Amino acid sequence: MRIHVTRKIPRRALDRLLATGWDIFVGPEEIPSRSRLLWGVGGAVGLLTLLTEKIDAEVMDRCPDLRVISQCATGLDNVDVAEANRRKIPVCNTPGVLTETCADFTLALMLALSRRLLEGDRLLRQGQFQGWGPLMLLGPDLHGATLGLLGMGNIARAVARRAEGFGMRVIYWSRSEQPGGVRCLELQDLLSQADVVSLHLPLSEQTRHLINEQRLAQMKPGALLINTSRGPVVDEAALARALHHGHIGGAALDVFEDEPAVHPDILACPNALLTPHIASASLATRERMALLAVDNLIAVLRGESPAHQVNL
Ligand code: GLV
Repeated sequence: MRIHVTRKIPRRALDRLLATGWDIFVGPEEIPSRSRLLWGVGGAVGLLTLLTEKIDAEVMDRCPDLRVISQCATGLDNVDVAEANRRKIPVCNTPGVLTETCADFTLALMLALSRRLLEGDRLLRQGQFQGWGPLMLLGPDLHGATLGLLGMGNIARAVARRAEGFGMRVIYWSRSEQPGGVRCLELQDLLSQADVVSLHLPLSEQTRHLINEQRLAQMKPGALLINTSRGPVVDEAALARALHHGHIGGAALDVFEDEPAVHPDILACPNALLTPHIASASLATRERMALLAVDNLIAVLRGESPAHQVNL
């Protein structure tokens, strides 16, 4: 059985896959070109995919015997799940194991942005630190501030637990009905009350550019925006304008509309803190994600139920 792993994954996970005795082909460490991907998947019965590869009908056509697509990520916006449904191919993902790590990272961004850590680091390295100053690099407090969470999935709730520990008031907006009696606000009300807005939504046609010019204008003057979900949820050009004229106090972005490219106007904003899609990048979590993706793939090919299948 031929299995194609689109990019190098942590060693322990690869060893578990190799132990099956199947024919395992592993792509490069970097993002494979489209032609390399199409060539590599040829004849595979199982695909282990990363969020950087577009897995669409053309890819599926190259492997007519494909029996499983196992994504090593929670988000599946790079996989054409509707097409997999038509072909009756199970699609799996890796939710849960990255929740706490992504929530830690969201808090790290929130703290670093509000207290201007990177600006301080840059100032120091550029030799501009002239000594303590009463007006130097002032930023808002997090304690006592209101955090507005868009989405109420596992990561949003894990962020809420941490934020409450910091003395923040947490409010929510969600597109779906929430169990457990947690009250969700209308989006406009949340945006007008929150000092910090953090996005925890999957990318879909409903959430693409959800945070656009109009929504940004509804945010409190000086509020902060954090995005660790998917880049296209935010209209980057509109955000760059709001950051430039100061209506938005700062933004911390771990994901971008056209990754790995970043809008040049965002790059030019000193009040934007930018990280290269690393919210889940702790050693243990990246290994857990890869092991789960491998286990999902093996389970489907052995005719067992995988831990996380999203379709069929
Ligand atoms: C990471 O971005 C994921 O969706 O798992």
